[in-house]
Amino acid sequence: MAEKEKVVLAYSGGLDTSICIKWLIDEHNLDVIAVVGEVGQEHEGLEAVRQKALRTGAVECYVVDMREEFVDGYLTDAIRANALYENQYPLLSALSRPVITKHLVDIAHKHGAKYIAHGCTGKGNDQVRFETSIMLLDPTLKIIAPVREWPFKTRPEEMEWAAAHGVEVPTTNKKPYSIDDNLWGRAIECGVLEDPMNEPPEDIYTMTVSPEEAPDKPEYIEVDFKAGIPCGLDGKPMKYIDVIYKLNEVAGRNGFGRLDMIENRLVGVKSRECYEQPAALALITAHKALEAMCLEREVLHYKLGIEQKWAEVVYYGAWFGPLKAALDGFIDATQDCVTGTVRLKFYKGTCTVVGRRSDYSLYSYELATYDTDDQFNHESSAGFIELNALSMKTWAINRLQHKADR
Ligand code: ARG
Repeated sequence: MAEKEKVVLAYSGGLDTSICIKWLIDEHNLDVIAVVGEVGQEHEGLEAVRQKALRTGAVECYVVDMREEFVDGYLTDAIRANALYENQYPLLSALSRPVITKHLVDIAHKHGAKYIAHGCTGKGNDQVRFETSIMLLDPTLKIIAPVREWPFKTRPEEMEWAAAHGVEVPTTNKKPYSIDDNLWGRAIECGVLEDPMNEPPEDIYTMTVSPEEAPDKPEYIEVDFKAGIPCGLDGKPMKYIDVIYKLNEVAGRNGFGRLDMIENRLVGVKSRECYEQPAALALITAHKALEAMCLEREVLHYKLGIEQKWAEVVYYGAWFGPLKAALDGFIDATQDCVTGTVRLKFYKGTCTVVGRRSDYSLYSYELATYDTDDQFNHESSAGFIELNALSMKTWAINRLQHKADR
């Protein structure tokens, strides 16, 4: 018998991707190599997930710990870019898809597989991100998206097919939400959240307590940065990944990091999204505060536009595309001086910057003070204002002259 062709599948262990294994075998006659990415998501053991993939019919299942790579190759760029899509969402899913895809493509090459498959639906952003990343890394690979092909519309329909085809059906009553998570945070959609007027129920959150339940005493922490990358807490040097884990704890127990927003998906749909990203939002807050002190005014202002575009490009799935790299070129050139310390105060759902210091600080006491030490040259201001406003003043004079005509 001729050897079967191979497909590499992004596998999570959930119902959708489990059905995908069986679907790829039955409907596409392929050998399935499943890949589970460990990106800091909540789980009850990935070895069990691996065994499940094999029981469901995969010829091979890899569990790959991608956490260090995710942090050092992806969340580094994200923090330097203060990455917030639509000025709010710190991009947790959009950042994990490229690192997962990198491994899918590598494993496809290793096994000589011509196909890559994923379990994303046909109306989300994640399908776009997986497929765009695959195309950019190896345009010769072919993509299969079983969820877009199969006829099941509801979860019960999926369960029925699964049961009939020997795919294990989850027995535990799964929360009625669609969740994606990693160490940069959690995204929660669907269920009662689909009515934008419903307040998010408390049970959607696992990383943060509600601000009402948070301690009545503030908690302070100092975050150290080197060239724009977090490198320590309270003066103790730490790896970026450990800073993230620790800050998820500290910010989370103080009820900080929740978001509830209507977001524009790339496919044209507005969706109601809830997130909890305690460390991500605290770190971006701190990083921005340090930049405010260390970046020259025009660089800082120009960077705001670059940041917005960066977040959009990454949200749209073009991590491996040329514009992302070009924008990183600008951002890299701004970060050498973003070295120093920011003091954060967490209190009942808030995170406030209450102090900052840096050897690269452009804040000058002598220039800023209203005290006797003042070194600012007050006389030069009159001439400065005169020339700065000259073109507008010319316009105002002209307008005055023509007032009678109108
Ligand atoms: N809306 C977010 C994004 O597009 C989160 C998507 C999360 N996916 C999920 N299966 N819940 O990045």
